[in-house]
Amino acid sequence: MMILGIETSCDETSCALIKEGGHLVRHAIFSQTELHQTFKGVVPEIASRSHLEKINELVEQMIQGNQKIDGIAVTIGPGLVGSLLIGKMTAEALGWVWDVPVVGINHLEAHLYSSFLEHKELKPPFMGLIVSGGHTHLVLVEDFGKYKVLGRTRDDSAGEAYDKVAKCLGLDYPGGPIIDRLAKKGNPAAIPFPRAHLPGSWDFSFSGLKTAVLYFLQNLRVSSGSFIGKKNIGANKGGLKIEFPPLPLKTVADICASFQSAVVEVLVRKTILAAKKFGLKKIAVGGGVSANSFLRSELIRNGKDNKLKVYFPSLPYSTDNGAMVALTGYYKFKKGFYDDKNQEALEVNPSLPIKNWI
Ligand SMILES: Nc1ncnc2c1ncn2[C@@H]1O[C@H](COP(=O)(O)OP(=O)(O)OP(=O)(O)O)[C@@H](O)[C@H]1O
Ligand SMILES: [Mg+2]
Repeated sequence: MMILGIETSCDETSCALIKEGGHLVRHAIFSQTELHQTFKGVVPEIASRSHLEKINELVEQMIQGNQKIDGIAVTIGPGLVGSLLIGKMTAEALGWVWDVPVVGINHLEAHLYSSFLEHKELKPPFMGLIVSGGHTHLVLVEDFGKYKVLGRTRDDSAGEAYDKVAKCLGLDYPGGPIIDRLAKKGNPAAIPFPRAHLPGSWDFSFSGLKTAVLYFLQNLRVSSGSFIGKKNIGANKGGLKIEFPPLPLKTVADICASFQSAVVEVLVRKTILAAKKFGLKKIAVGGGVSANSFLRSELIRNGKDNKLKVYFPSLPYSTDNGAMVALTGYYKFKKGFYDDKNQEALEVNPSLPIKNWI
């Protein structure tokens, strides 16, 4: 069985081929990050246009040498509607031309499966943590296609918190990898930012933390007359433009490390607690924030202390990629959970929830 995976839900155009046994054959990603950097966030119109410009080239790379395809897996949500439509229409057209079935894939489910790519010993049941640009979900994965979403963020996702804090600090987009790097030079105990543990619930909340960082920066600016930014941020007071000198690197690093330690502490604590409460032995993490070096080391260390094995995808498969989509499709085809005649199953849905197939 050879499955072509197509991912266009946000700002990465990506295709991959998965063969029998769930092994990756080919993989290609075009990242649009540079196109969106000036805007410090993804611009939906730019994203869909760029997917349209790139998708054929990526599909051609997959089918070099007349590669035969048995089925197509395409992300149908959640994501940006215009971007999702480019993937879905490409998959449908190819499915019709090649006369092969097409299966719709939930992007979050694909993030949950991303660790399967390189850890063949990983099988359900396990506790899944999705930490991405748009979502933060704690999911009990009982079996392939059988889930219980235990908790989710009530406001910002973990990735959004990273990106917004980076923006407040005048850092580039996406902020997650930059904060990760700067935090290594800072003191995580320098500033006691709040942790929203929300006892009695498996939900998360990161917007209070983000606001606390913002207020901390505003107070710092008032007391020290400094601010951070590539270009110093000016304030317009009574027609007077005031330029602030940048904050010292050490201060920025301390803010990054303290913010990151607040995010990671809550994620680690809740995930370990949930795994223990449901009697699981394994945890698998997916989504862009799973690339974070501190989250990785803290979850692995705490996992060991609690006799839990923790799995992460390698860095290229943490953020959006076609390989995880193709692999999720492979499992769906293998277990017969697709309906080629059901067009509704291929409707794109920007807020598609995680649903059971069994
Ligand atoms: N090393 C890192 N540390 C922290 N955050 C990171 C790191 N690398 C990437 N991120 C964050 O990951 C996010 C992007 O992840 P991903 O590509 O999975 O999100 P998305 O696909 O846009 O959202 P979703 O999967 O919810 O639809 C961004 O918010 C980015 O800042
Ligand atoms: Mg994603």
